[in-house]
Amino acid sequence: MMSEQTPKFKVTIDNISIEVAAGTTILNAAREIGGDLVPPTMCYYSKLEGSGGKCRTCLVEVSKGSEKDPRPMPKLVASCRTTVMDGMEVKSITSEKVLDARKGVTEFLLLNHPLDCPVCDQAGECDLQNLSYKHGAECTRYEFNRRTFEKEDIGPYIQLHMTRCILCYRCVFTANQLTGNREHGVLDRGDKTEISTYIGKALHNEFIGNVIDVCPVGALTDKTFRFKNRVWFTKPVDAHRDCPTCSGKVRLWMRGDDVFRVTARKDKYGEVEEWICNDCRFHKKETKDWVIEGPSKVDRHSVISQGHYVNAITPQTKLINEVIGRNPKLLLDIHKVSDVNRPEIDLSKIEGPAHSDDFKK
Ligand code: SF4
Ligand code: FES
Repeated sequence: MMSEQTPKFKVTIDNISIEVAAGTTILNAAREIGGDLVPPTMCYYSKLEGSGGKCRTCLVEVSKGSEKDPRPMPKLVASCRTTVMDGMEVKSITSEKVLDARKGVTEFLLLNHPLDCPVCDQAGECDLQNLSYKHGAECTRYEFNRRTFEKEDIGPYIQLHMTRCILCYRCVFTANQLTGNREHGVLDRGDKTEISTYIGKALHNEFIGNVIDVCPVGALTDKTFRFKNRVWFTKPVDAHRDCPTCSGKVRLWMRGDDVFRVTARKDKYGEVEEWICNDCRFHKKETKDWVIEGPSKVDRHSVISQGHYVNAITPQTKLINEVIGRNPKLLLDIHKVSDVNRPEIDLSKIEGPAHSDDFKK
């Protein structure tokens, strides 16, 4: 009944027109169209009320405001926070300004982010890593020291690496809206801003594990999976169990018959489909705990799909210095920037793949 009363607005994004209900954001209109024109998002999360408006990765150009007032909007706008008007015309990947702004925002997000992807558990499924590959610059212009924080223990299951946090607020909204316990939030301002538990309180709620899934970077990771495997060596499988607390519909990350990690299932925009409880996530690590449904659908562009598809890419014949026209520079010493390495171990010299013993506990 409601939908019959809600007027429809026509919006055109990158020359593709669609009719959406009044009140829809430009981002969600773009998601309805789908494809490459959908702006990237680092803070918006459709399942979390109030999310969005923090990171500016979703900027778009509004070249025509509406049918009634066709003037373009003077500045790029955050598509996750701007609702469509009837007759609005929007440019996403067809706008040079937008692509340039995304590059700038990516550089900004990386100012204080440590480049410890080689040892970060989020590598391979990190939104910031993907954003950098798509929109990032080759080098940084930043010459100052990156932020560092005192290590903080936020409980037995979740590891907080504040240096990697991009302050998207998703975990705070998750804790507020899902668990009803306001035990964790954003403290301080400017480059001192940090995610923290109030007065050192551990997060005990039975749904708190979901903050790991909503974190777009490796700032919140699963202690029961830390350093156990690289995500692209594991095979995601959809499974369920009869759980008294949550839907019990999960994704198992397996290697052979071993369950290395349990997460919620995510949709094509990387958002959790159904929240899962801590018991399913942290304590059910045996195949006998689950009814296996079958392999999860993985985007074929994702590194996680590397074990699932035949590699049809032609092997490169040129060396990297021939491609970039100079010898590559060593941009960082991983031991200096990461607080997870054991400095006496040179990861490039160890026999076989790195193991949890090769990192700090
Ligand atoms: S810890 Fe992760 S989810 Fe929380 S604000 Fe930082 S980046 Fe966002
Ligand atoms: S996704 Fe829109 S501002 Fe972050």
